[in-house]
Amino acid sequence: MSIEVLDKGKFFHLSGPNFSYCIALAKGGYPYHAYFGAKLSNPSPERLVQFMLPPCTPNPDAVDQSYSLDVMSHEYPMQGTSDYRNPAFQIVTGNGGRVLDLLYESHRIIDGKPALEGLPASFASKGDAESLEIVLVDSVSKVKVALLYSIFKDLNVVVRSSRILNTGIDAVLIESALSASIDFDDAEFDFLRLHGTWIRETCRERTPLSHGVQFVESKRGASSNYYNPFMALCRKGSTEETGVVYGFNLVYSGNFIARAEVNHYRFTRAAIGINPYDFSWKLEANEAFQTPEAVLVFSETGLGGMSRSYHDFYRKHLINQAWVNKERPILVNSWEAAYFNVNEELSIQMGKMAKEVGIELFALDDGWFGKRDSDASSLGDWYENKEKFPHGLAYVQEEIAKAGTAFGIWVEPESISPDSDLYRAHPDWIIKVDGRRNSVSRNQYTLDLSKKVVQDFLIETFTRVIRDSKAVYVKWDMNRHMTEIGSIGASADRQKETCHRYMLGVYRLMDTLTKAFPNILFEGCSAGGGRYDPGMLYYMPQFWASDNSDAWERCIIQAGASLVYPASTLSAHVSVVPNHQVGRTTSLETRTAVAIAGVLGYEFNLCNMSSEERALIPIQIDFYKRIRHISREGDLFRLVDPAVQGPFGERSAAWIFVCKDKSEAIFTFVRGICRGNMPPGKIKVQGLDLKANYKIVGTMGAAYSFPTETVPGDELLNEGINLPFHCLMDFSSLVLHLKRV
Ligand code: DGJ
Repeated sequence: MSIEVLDKGKFFHLSGPNFSYCIALAKGGYPYHAYFGAKLSNPSPERLVQFMLPPCTPNPDAVDQSYSLDVMSHEYPMQGTSDYRNPAFQIVTGNGGRVLDLLYESHRIIDGKPALEGLPASFASKGDAESLEIVLVDSVSKVKVALLYSIFKDLNVVVRSSRILNTGIDAVLIESALSASIDFDDAEFDFLRLHGTWIRETCRERTPLSHGVQFVESKRGASSNYYNPFMALCRKGSTEETGVVYGFNLVYSGNFIARAEVNHYRFTRAAIGINPYDFSWKLEANEAFQTPEAVLVFSETGLGGMSRSYHDFYRKHLINQAWVNKERPILVNSWEAAYFNVNEELSIQMGKMAKEVGIELFALDDGWFGKRDSDASSLGDWYENKEKFPHGLAYVQEEIAKAGTAFGIWVEPESISPDSDLYRAHPDWIIKVDGRRNSVSRNQYTLDLSKKVVQDFLIETFTRVIRDSKAVYVKWDMNRHMTEIGSIGASADRQKETCHRYMLGVYRLMDTLTKAFPNILFEGCSAGGGRYDPGMLYYMPQFWASDNSDAWERCIIQAGASLVYPASTLSAHVSVVPNHQVGRTTSLETRTAVAIAGVLGYEFNLCNMSSEERALIPIQIDFYKRIRHISREGDLFRLVDPAVQGPFGERSAAWIFVCKDKSEAIFTFVRGICRGNMPPGKIKVQGLDLKANYKIVGTMGAAYSFPTETVPGDELLNEGINLPFHCLMDFSSLVLHLKRV
């Protein structure tokens, strides 16, 4: 990794193991995006900076007739410069003006990676990262923009954000301030996004980029399960393991936009940041506004390479280092076991039973507080329900601790039920426009966390709840998106700040509580994977990826999530069959095979276990404990995409996690739908040491007796693993633990 300053301070070359990122200062100081791609040995502005002035195109300088900003490559395009493409930055100045001319003022190089005020952000110690700050200034409004770039040792990652500073005397209104924007001088890309909804999260979709604008966004006040704050621009013909792919991901959990725009010259502008929709920010003199950061990945090894870069980066530089590689408790959650009908007796029984099969923690989900017998009431009344828990939650903790099981609880701090004492006392504490009706969603409103009084109340409340319950695990849920957005009491010119102020409030709350309870494992959740984003992962090392616990559905959901997020962050549970979400019946073996691709847990009433389950679960847990370090810390190679039909019309999924030193691997195959009389097939395996031999040292399938001979790594790559005949059955699976010999 290095940052070189060339051309007398007018050209910056940021480079990592396989990439170069170049910025030039052009035509009086415009930050010109010169290059982002495969590593260059000797980049120079003479070759990389090009100007043109096509016919009928505006140029800002009547004397210099050589260039137009409308076809120039920008680093941080702004409104009002004669560039007709979508800007990254828009403001309104005191006189209503929307014209800007941000030109270079200064730069500095920083050893390490600065933190961002109030926002989750990547971190690195000195020597592990280098950062470049380029300060631009608009000489009329005196608005400054500091563009921050960080690069990290051994990673093909560039992290970008911007900080807006008003050094003028009048307030300005920021209408858009994206985190990153990059201009490419062609459009030979496919646009890949992760779309979804409740119980169908993180579905991949790849479409050719075409003229005009393609984007994914959230307007819901949360990053959401509809679109993840991510896009990839994939070079035509790039595949899972070959070709060039650019990833864009935002470290933010609120409204976002990820956009690709192709203009008349087939130049592509890629940008990501806070969604300008329903956003503005009044910046008084001497105030600053910080954008979230965007994580840009460059891969020459297709989507797989992109994913592995994201996984490594988030594990090393975003997720709490105290938790990232720590063995997480194997838990059983009460939700699918009892939904709202939880009580003391069931909790103690499940807690005790857990220990018998090797489960380490009982998590008490929704239904333990207020009068919460359904989703119709009580969010906000965070006191244990004495009818259900006559001796309190701490008593449950103490009782199950005697059996050796730890205790955890579910909370939903950001929501409030209309039928709650809290709402009756503070009806103005919700996101709402004064004098207007407010929709309910899942019978609840959103608390207005843009207000400090609400944040302080929640800090106090959940400090008490967590401390008194003696929980060592907290599942933090959020089940309602914002509607009719407004903040009662905020001035008219600040109403459009509500969504971002809300996120800053959520982050303050999470920061305070996770620091107050450093030994507690926090798991994020938002009606499943509705806020599975890097902003959340900064505070919470794992996330409940979906309320869909069906094994086959999970193959698709988890494959999508794995494009960006490492397995150590993905919480996955074994639940009962027929499955509650899709009615499908799959074997315990297959359900477990899929769940051990993430952080394993269970989600059913242990008191109703069959004797077969009681016998198998301890064996499977034992197997998981022997192999979980491989997925937690290793490299993932997706081998067969479950969303794509195979040659016979069948559906299958396969993946392999390989230790960094390639000494061990865990291979998984899951058959979705089979077709009649097809061959079992072979799966070619990536990622192994091609010069070494491997031996199967364990499987999760009790029934399958695996070959004992050693197989060369190159044979596993080129010829593949022969699937046994049992893999010809719908929803069958195979898990193999390979070791280098
Ligand atoms: C939605 C979550 O995704 C579920 O796992 C469960 O916690 C429910 N909320 C509880 O209301």
